[in-house]
Amino acid sequence: MSTTRPSAVIVLAAGDGTRMKSDLNKMLHSIGGRPLVGHALLAAARTEAPHVAVTVRASRERVVPVVQQTWPEAVIADQDDIKGTGRAAECALDALPADLSGTVLVTYGDTPLLATETLLDLTRVHEDAGNAVTVLTAHLENPSGYGRIYRGDDGAVQAIVEHKDAIRAQQEGGEFADAVHITEINSGIYAFDAAVLRTSLTQVSTDNAQGEKYLTDVLAIARAGGGRVDSHSVEDVWQIEGVNDKVQLARMGRELNARTLERLMRQDGAIIIDPATTWVDVEVSVGRDTVVHPGCQLRGATTIGADCEIGPDSTLVDTEVGDGASVVRTHAVLAQVGPKAMVGPFSYLRAGTVLGAEGKIGGFVETKNAQIGDGAKVPHLSYVGDAEIGEGTNIGAGTIFANYDGVNKHKTVIGKHAKTGSNNTFVAPAVVGDGAGTGGGTVVRGEVPPGALGVSSGPLRIIEDWAQRKRPGTAQAQAAAAATTTPAPPTTRVEPVETTEGADPA
Ligand code: UD1
Ligand code: CA
Repeated sequence: MSTTRPSAVIVLAAGDGTRMKSDLNKMLHSIGGRPLVGHALLAAARTEAPHVAVTVRASRERVVPVVQQTWPEAVIADQDDIKGTGRAAECALDALPADLSGTVLVTYGDTPLLATETLLDLTRVHEDAGNAVTVLTAHLENPSGYGRIYRGDDGAVQAIVEHKDAIRAQQEGGEFADAVHITEINSGIYAFDAAVLRTSLTQVSTDNAQGEKYLTDVLAIARAGGGRVDSHSVEDVWQIEGVNDKVQLARMGRELNARTLERLMRQDGAIIIDPATTWVDVEVSVGRDTVVHPGCQLRGATTIGADCEIGPDSTLVDTEVGDGASVVRTHAVLAQVGPKAMVGPFSYLRAGTVLGAEGKIGGFVETKNAQIGDGAKVPHLSYVGDAEIGEGTNIGAGTIFANYDGVNKHKTVIGKHAKTGSNNTFVAPAVVGDGAGTGGGTVVRGEVPPGALGVSSGPLRIIEDWAQRKRPGTAQAQAAAAATTTPAPPTTRVEPVETTEGADPA
């Protein structure tokens, strides 16, 4: 392992990215929950180079805030009207200290899998050999689109020939006529001696197929000036693959995901049942022996403890799950699930949901801004919004916390070890005291004191033979008639049947 650090890393992110066919700038498209430029910037920053600069131009107003959020110390360099990677590097140099010396690395904002380790290796190789320029290369079966590494008879790197220029040379003949067949390609990532880069860039022209100032031209210029130009090749070709269109975005996203899952399994001891249907963002952590079942998406700043059961089919965004919890077929955003708590199946946890240890949020329950205490349960078919529920309390099936009066939101507080009946409505602001209870179908307005039973539904009122009188001739009326002593219409007379007294409340 190297301890050599570059003096500066320049990340080029000013390009238009027209091949993305998108209203969103290429740099801001995300894989693994992080924008492309964020990946590139962090790989650069983690070299611990004293200076990190990012060249911007296209969608500047949207790219700059993302850069600053990712790495506040990054120097923003604005590229002017002159196009090309060479001009982009030149603008970055202008934004860095004029006396900058040592090794300057150049990387791309659209190359998200590049590892810091590779940048440090490149720096070490470059400095050990005393090179003026070291280009990071790779061997590709299909080198189409990339600049080709053109070597002389001595095997030394002489120039980089852009794909379009190689095609032109093939048609017109001359020095680079065969360059199009070369499979060693330019990754676009380089180590430069700072002084060589600065002086060479002033000599780069725009005389090429695209009329741009190519950074690649620096190699031949440095060589002509007597500097050593060499290459360092990377085996892991994913690291140098750039995103130019949405097909590549998906391809790189899948590879990044596979790498994230592999790290979680190998380093952190997570059990991922089906990597093909599991999507995990780069910042997510998953504890030892936690099982992630098929069809899960763990996104943003989600953290999962050890020995949990997640999924199948759960999407957790910025959600924290404690050790030993289970979260089955659930959608959760900005929620906290305590240790050994149970959530799902079919639960929707919205922002501000905090479920205590060994608590439960069951099927078809939606929660929002709700603190549900240790061992408290909301097992079935409920909406819990703007609520505080004390430890050990049980909320009956089908309960609505009516938190919104059409203008303002209000809070409901339920105490500890309370037992509320089924199909209750808590009209906020409402309070149910510790150890209190409510009857089935109760609408609570105001307060049920500790230990009291609140019952708001009146006694059952019976209107005899209503169906026979109001719905004559219908199946309803016939069924009613058959079940009561009232005589049915003469043609369909049936014997009276015995009725069962009071259904079993269980
Ligand atoms: C470039 C290289 C090519 C290499 C390939 C690797 C040149 C001339 N060509 O080609 O040899 O094989 O990368 O992926 O360098 N950018 C700017 N300002 C600009 C133009 C580009 O900042 O004016 C940035 C882009 O935002 C992007 C990076 O430079 O991050 C590469 O630009 P792109 O246009 O994709 O270069 P390629 O044509 O792929
Ligand atoms: Ca590119």
